[in-house]
Amino acid sequence: MSRFSTDSVIAVIGAGTMGAGIAQVAAKAGHQVLLFDAAEGAAQRGIDNTAKGLNKLVERGRMTKDDADALVARILPVSVINDLAPANLVIEAIVERLDIKQQVFGQLEDICAESTVIATNTSSISVTAIGSSMKRPQNLVGMHFFNPAPIMKLVEVISGLDTDPQIAADIYDLSAIWGKLPVHAKSTPGFIVNRVARPFYAEGLRINQEGAADIATIDALLRECGGFRMGPFELMDLIGHDVNYAVTCSVFEAFYNDPRFLPSLIQKELVDAGHFGRKSGKGFYDYSEDAVKATPATADAQSAPSSITIEGDLGVAEALVPLFEQAGVKINRVENDEVEGMIMVGDATLMLTNGQFTTQRAGETMRPNLVNFDLALDYTTASRIALAPADQASEDAINAAIGLFQAAGKAVSIIDDVPGMAVMRTVCMLANEGFDAVNQQVCDDAAVDIAMKGGVNYPCGPIEWVTTLGLSYALDVLDNLIDAYGEDRYRASPLLLRKVAGGA
Ligand code: NAI
Repeated sequence: MSRFSTDSVIAVIGAGTMGAGIAQVAAKAGHQVLLFDAAEGAAQRGIDNTAKGLNKLVERGRMTKDDADALVARILPVSVINDLAPANLVIEAIVERLDIKQQVFGQLEDICAESTVIATNTSSISVTAIGSSMKRPQNLVGMHFFNPAPIMKLVEVISGLDTDPQIAADIYDLSAIWGKLPVHAKSTPGFIVNRVARPFYAEGLRINQEGAADIATIDALLRECGGFRMGPFELMDLIGHDVNYAVTCSVFEAFYNDPRFLPSLIQKELVDAGHFGRKSGKGFYDYSEDAVKATPATADAQSAPSSITIEGDLGVAEALVPLFEQAGVKINRVENDEVEGMIMVGDATLMLTNGQFTTQRAGETMRPNLVNFDLALDYTTASRIALAPADQASEDAINAAIGLFQAAGKAVSIIDDVPGMAVMRTVCMLANEGFDAVNQQVCDDAAVDIAMKGGVNYPCGPIEWVTTLGLSYALDVLDNLIDAYGEDRYRASPLLLRKVAGGA
């Protein structure tokens, strides 16, 4: 039996972006909500904003006016913290400062009943550290919502060292009743989402820093080929580089400078310059009115081939074959279990990137006209693909490769020869981080995928994605990235190694 019911009174402290949204979620579920903010008038402003947002839903016919009014009426602004005494659960969404959170929780412990559960919406402070100053740290739990709280499904339920497991379980159940997708996680830097998401930004930044592709091309590839809603650069511009860079730095420092989380110098430059992104009018992109919108590099039209030869198994890229057939390309298949799957078109050989430089792979396979292509979330629906030719590939070969993918309906972006290309290395690194979080007992496999889909809208959980790709393939990509860079950053998680060793 959960300690919470619809009759439970929910208090929310901090009526800013997150607090107002959380109050709305609780009120929608039928609770009486007490909303407190230290700034005068802020609680009422938060409620007014909620009412405005709900009115839009009413106008669009997605909610009745009666329901919207009743929801707003259930949120009561209170002007002194003592008025939170009746709360069964207090959710804190105030300023992200350990000392202030501890001071507020000290007050709450004196004001509320001993049984009151205190939840913090912190996104970066250790729940264990917050609890260290409390009389009843067992009553403290992380309840990490995502912005905007009424829309984003995920709630990370964070247990500190002293959190009562039954309280974490009850908060998990309550979140589910509120229509959320909760996951359990141990209090560790970045919890799940802010940890596992780091490579989404880091790999894009790295590829760009190395000059392999410009920002608009990388963004387009992650969107149109990777299926992500936004590419890394447009997303960082939206989040704000000050915030995004600070999160990366805090995770890096919290993991004792693990190179996996190394912050990026090109992002630091933007922060130093005050180019924070959309909010300052300039980040990676220019948001001024007369700015010319950056567009992705797209290859000119090349002629479609009449026939191709496919040798071996293309794995996930087999989905391309029907597209080539539909384009009227004759396909000769050569069965061969001994080689990695490849497509021969004109002078060119095409292979799914394996994390090596194409140039190096061309030398090893003695196929100078090798062109690597990138991973797609779904080769059938992807509207763009990246090709990375070997340095020694001829222009005719590159054009033949372009023509084939164009015949299959794809816009083609030629990128410089960078190990693992754009989507492949990003996805393998995301999954690797997910496996490492699981390996370090932060959460289970399923939680990683739920968290990344529900918290940051990933089109597919990174673990399910590499499972489809083949875990041994993902491991090869990471091993090849280590060979190329010689950096610990790309070391495979022991859990991935173990799963591959076990035949997964
Ligand atoms: P915000 O700045 O929009 O709102 C914070 C509110 O807390 C302000 O209205 C402020 O007056 C009030 N406040 C500050 N100190 C207070 C105190 N001692 N007592 C009562 N009220 C106080 O901030 P936001 O973005 O809503 O963030 C709040 C918390 O949620 C932070 O811990 C943040 O890390 C976390 N968070 C933020 C997310 C976001 O995307 N904005 C996402 C998930 C978590």
